[in-house]
Amino acid sequence: MKVPYSYLQEQFSDPEPIFRALREQLTRCEFTFGPELEEFEQNMARYTGSRYCLGTASGTAALSMLLKAVGVGEGDEVITVSQTFVATIGAIVAVGARPYFIDVLDDFTIDPDLIEKAINNKTKALMPVWYSGTPPRMEEIRAIADRYDLPVIEDACCAISARIEGKHAGTFGAGGAFSVHPLKNLNVWGDGGFIVTDSVEIRDQIILLRNHGLKNRDEVELFGYNARLDTIQAIVGNYLYPRIDEITDRRIANAQKYDRAFSSPEFNGRINIPPRRQDGRHVYHMYMVLAENRDELLADLIKRGIEAKVHYPIPMHLQRAVQAAEPPFGRTDLSRTVFQCGSLITFPVHQHLSEEQLDYVIECVRSFYRG
Ligand SMILES: Cc1ncc(COP(=O)(O)O)c(C=O)c1O
Repeated sequence: MKVPYSYLQEQFSDPEPIFRALREQLTRCEFTFGPELEEFEQNMARYTGSRYCLGTASGTAALSMLLKAVGVGEGDEVITVSQTFVATIGAIVAVGARPYFIDVLDDFTIDPDLIEKAINNKTKALMPVWYSGTPPRMEEIRAIADRYDLPVIEDACCAISARIEGKHAGTFGAGGAFSVHPLKNLNVWGDGGFIVTDSVEIRDQIILLRNHGLKNRDEVELFGYNARLDTIQAIVGNYLYPRIDEITDRRIANAQKYDRAFSSPEFNGRINIPPRRQDGRHVYHMYMVLAENRDELLADLIKRGIEAKVHYPIPMHLQRAVQAAEPPFGRTDLSRTVFQCGSLITFPVHQHLSEEQLDYVIECVRSFYRG
C-alpha cells in the first residue's frame, strides 16, 4: 500500500470552478490587486475574526513586513525558537535584525518561562511559532510582552484554523503571518501568504510595504518590497476557503486516530505523543511524534510505501548560516530542541487518507517495534 505525503492531486481534482474564475479574470486582465484579492482578504479577515487582512507574496514576506511595520530593524533582537522552519529566522535576518533563540516545551512551542531572562535592551519583538499548527502558550507570552511593552508577531504560517478557546492563531498579538504555500492546509498554486491585524497603523504600513512603498502611482513614501499576493492565487484561495473547516476537521480526526493508537501500552516509550492542549485546536499541518530509533523507523516506513518525513533534523541554531553570524546570536540552553530534532518523525495525516491507509501506518509502526 502507498501512503503519500502530498494530497494536492486530490485537493485540485476538480479544477473547473477555478478555471472558470480565471477565464473571467482574463477578460479583465487584472493580474495584481482587483476584486478577487479583496474577496480573499475579506474571507480571511472574517474567518480569523480580524479587523484587517492583507494578501502577501509568501508567509516569509508577511513575517518580514510585520516586523518592519512594528519598527524592528538593524541590530534589534527578536526572541523566537530554533525549533522551526528556516523562514521564521530568515524573515528576522532579512530586516537586519537578529534572532535570540530560546528553548521549547514538550509540545514543540516556545517556553514562556524562558522569555523574561532573554529580554534585554536590544529586544524589540517576540515571535512565537504555531509549530505545525500547535497552539503556543499565547496568554503567558502576551502577558510578558505587555509587561515589557513588546509587540508579538505570530508565525502562524502553518496554523490556519488553529485556535485557543475559540480565538484564532495570528490574532493574539500585533499581527499574524500565514502561508498558503502548496504544502499548507489552505493552499494555492504557488507561493502566497497573508497578514491579519486589528491595528489600522500596521494595516497602512503593510499596504505600503507590500507595494514598493508607493503611496500612489507616483509617490514613494518608504522603501518596501514587491510582495503582493497575485490575483490568480487569490482566486485559488477563494475556491478552497469554504472548505477550510472540512479539511482541518479531517486532519484532526486522522491525528486523533493516530494518538489513540500510539498511546496504547504496546507503544509505550517508543512513540511519544507530545502533550495536547485541551483548550486549543491543533490543526496538524504535520503530525509529529517522538520515536525511538527514529532513523531506522523512517527508513522502514519508506521501504513499505509510507512517505514519512523528518521536520527538521537540524535545528536552526546548528545551521551553518546561523553559526556564521558575528557576533553569535543570543540563545538559552537549547537541549530540548536538540533532543526533539533527533527523535521527531512526521507521519502523513492529510484529509484524503483513507481509514485503511491510517491503519496501515499504525500497523507498520507496530511491526517495526515488534521486530
Ligand atoms: C513555521 C513557518 N514559518 C514560515 C514559513 C514560510 O512560509 P512561506 O513558505 O509561505 O514563505 C513556513 C513555511 O513552511 C513555516 O513552516
